[in-house]
Amino acid sequence: MKTRAIVINHFGGKEELTESTVELPELKPKQVVVKVHATSINPIDWKTREGYLRKMFDWDFPIILGWDVAGVIEAVGEAVSDWQVGDRVFARPASTRFGTYADQTIVDSDQLATIPQGISFKEAAAVPLAGLTAYQALFDHGQLAAGQKVLIHAGAGGVGSFAIQLAKEKGAFVYTTASQKNHPLVKKLGADVAIDYQSEDFTEVVKDADLVFDTLGGAIQQASLQVLKPGGRLISVLGIQDEQLASEKHIHAEAVWLQPNGKQLQELAELMAAGKLVSVIGAEFPLTQQGVFEAHALSETHHAVGKIVLTND
Ligand SMILES: NC(=O)c1ccc[n+]([C@@H]2O[C@H](COP(=O)([O-])OP(=O)(O)OC[C@H]3O[C@@H](n4cnc5c(N)ncnc54)[C@H](OP(=O)(O)O)[C@@H]3O)[C@@H](O)[C@H]2O)c1
Repeated sequence: MKTRAIVINHFGGKEELTESTVELPELKPKQVVVKVHATSINPIDWKTREGYLRKMFDWDFPIILGWDVAGVIEAVGEAVSDWQVGDRVFARPASTRFGTYADQTIVDSDQLATIPQGISFKEAAAVPLAGLTAYQALFDHGQLAAGQKVLIHAGAGGVGSFAIQLAKEKGAFVYTTASQKNHPLVKKLGADVAIDYQSEDFTEVVKDADLVFDTLGGAIQQASLQVLKPGGRLISVLGIQDEQLASEKHIHAEAVWLQPNGKQLQELAELMAAGKLVSVIGAEFPLTQQGVFEAHALSETHHAVGKIVLTND
């Protein structure tokens, strides 16, 4: 099956993004074809475009970027029994070179979840990668429990905006870092304390935290070790820099890499249906060569608000 897609044929800058027609692989028995109505941007998209992840993903070209999808099932593999043509679904598909900046994408059926009634394709497309990252970091790795104190860095970003809501829903006390202009947003999402990282030192504000969720790395990760209580956890999506220092301070420091998971995404869908988890869509572009170019430019500023969505209606 051929599909229109935005691809790269070389690693490099945004000018490598090209509209093209790509032959998708043959559908396997437990896979479905999804007609893409919306997808969203994650920093991994432009990190992959630049070639930073080439050791991890040793793919041939062309590469279709994009690893979030919301759409409608168009075809099902012969061993798929629980999904049907016409179902409204969303997913964080497996990492392959056939991503979601396309009219059609292939998804393993165990990575699918149903989009709740009343939730748009745009709202759904914002969730899978960032929402599952927040979920897995806070609960599978961070073991966050009700009554605990958590510091979530970059609360106004894609991952942070979901993490605040999930931590609050769990019953945790939530500190977050964000620029002053985003404080109304992070408070609305449920943050108890918003710290302006441009004028305040978070290590003066947060003491004896049970968990720090690090989405920034570098000096911020290093300083975060100071705010944790002994026995606390530092969970980072950017790798752990100083394992020895963490160990000296009796802190469990762990790097996480998101695992696609349809069951967990269905839990997020249920929170969305109940109005307990919302997508913050800070910007929207069409799924065209120019639209993706502009969306990457915004994401690369490191100051996009919430999620950037690409629409394909
Ligand atoms: N390992 C994994 O599986 C995994 C999964 C998902 C994401 N990630 C990584 O996690 C990182 C975050 O992803 P994302 O999607 O959340 O990115 P994002 O949406 O692009 O993050 C942008 C946000 O970061 C905030 N920010 C920038 N500098 C800050 C600072 N010094 N202190 C506090 N906030 C700051 C900005 O808020 P202001 O405008 O208020 O400054 C902005 O809202 C990326 O590097 C991504 O590649 C890894």
